[in-house]
Amino acid sequence: MSESKHIPQTAPQFSATFDPYTLSEIRRAAATGIYDIRGAGTKRKLPHFDDLLFLGASVSRYPLEGYREKCGTDVVLGTRFAKKPIHLKTPVTIAGMSFGALSAQAKEALGRGASIAGTSTTTGDGGMTPEERGQSKTLVYQYLPSRYGMNPDDLRKADAIEVVIGQGAKPGGGGMLLGQKISPRVARMRCLPEGIDQRSACRHPDWTGPDDLEIKILELREITDWEKPIYVKVGATRPYYDVALAVKAGADVVVLDGMQGGTAATQEVFIEHVGIPILAAIRPAVQALQDLGMHRKVQLIVSGGIRNGADVAKALALGADAVAIGTAALVALGDNDPHLEDEYRKLGSTAGAYDDWHEGRDPAGITTQDPELAKRLDPVQAGRRLANYLSVLTMEAQVIARACGKSHLHNLEPEDLVALTLESAAMAQVPLAGTGWIPGKPL
Ligand SMILES: Cc1cc2nc3c(=O)[nH]c(=O)nc-3n(C[C@H](O)[C@H](O)[C@H](O)COP(=O)(O)O)c2cc1C
Repeated sequence: MSESKHIPQTAPQFSATFDPYTLSEIRRAAATGIYDIRGAGTKRKLPHFDDLLFLGASVSRYPLEGYREKCGTDVVLGTRFAKKPIHLKTPVTIAGMSFGALSAQAKEALGRGASIAGTSTTTGDGGMTPEERGQSKTLVYQYLPSRYGMNPDDLRKADAIEVVIGQGAKPGGGGMLLGQKISPRVARMRCLPEGIDQRSACRHPDWTGPDDLEIKILELREITDWEKPIYVKVGATRPYYDVALAVKAGADVVVLDGMQGGTAATQEVFIEHVGIPILAAIRPAVQALQDLGMHRKVQLIVSGGIRNGADVAKALALGADAVAIGTAALVALGDNDPHLEDEYRKLGSTAGAYDDWHEGRDPAGITTQDPELAKRLDPVQAGRRLANYLSVLTMEAQVIARACGKSHLHNLEPEDLVALTLESAAMAQVPLAGTGWIPGKPL
């Protein structure tokens, strides 16, 4: 027989299962004996906010007039127990990204941009830098399993505390910072030897479950005179139970990070195969808050693949109070910018695909500790770019809210949404477009 009818002649590959990428990964593993580590989030296509659409106002609903009728964007976080809740002008916050993963200049730029936009930024696995504290009007301090950079004085300098249980990119796993990025300053702040790979703990040594967590949260409140809101951050896996337990443990705010969430460095297999998409996690999280009578009393911040104002509006319509951005903020600062194409090529990558953030050779000066590279990032200019981007996200979300007839972003609701696919309809619990059907619910 000359040619099999079953082999598609246009696609010269082994099979759909063993595609060229899979083959190259097998060869790479066989040649090196080490697993692949990279930064950023999942690359596979997942059900996401793009699979939802807003219905907009028509005869049965009234839109608001952009130039005459206000549409509020502010949010207050930490209203449950904290004496000093946080007031932000926009519900788009900057997610925790560590000094170590990022250069000091990048951390400063994040603070500057967030402050101009009237929002908060967050420390990360490496502690608080003076530049970041100095330039961030509202700074959330992460309290992590690794305890790196943990300093009670810094806790008191923060405006809120985020207890990190997990991250969407690697729920159940700890951080990684490879030796290339452990500069003398990073080493000092983390009490680590210079130049040696480190892996952060995946479990906090101070608690094994929600009862211990409750005690830890009380301790943090005592140290900070009950002033600061306490957030609890979880990677999206079993959101209904995790959110309920975080509330039981005394959280003022729950941060829920979906599997699209970026990371500075993790095993590829972890990024692509552990956790659930943020679209699937929001409704169960909101359900847990509603069942406990805590929706809008304990605020919900969601993250993982937020890119534009439509994503922000959709997350809020599904019941979140605010969102957090990581990867998009780095791109706004200048990460993966096409003007650096020649340099990305020298690293075997290309602008728009560079994700070897763990190697510390970022030509944009963002995911590096090399002093010469880091100097390339001007924190003032990069901060302005981030502020512009945050302002666009907020205005875009407002445009959508007005079109749905809402006088505040928080008035958006699931009823404003429909889904394009069966999967997204089931996950987001909104009707399939053109029908009244929500999978799993009677018509
Ligand atoms: C470079 C980088 C460093 C990060 N470092 C931390 C960290 O130290 N602690 C943490 O809780 N999450 C960390 N994250 C995860 C972010 O806080 C956030 O959950 C995630 O970036 C949100 O998804 P997005 O990147 O799609 O916006 C990091 C993310 C990136 C991209």
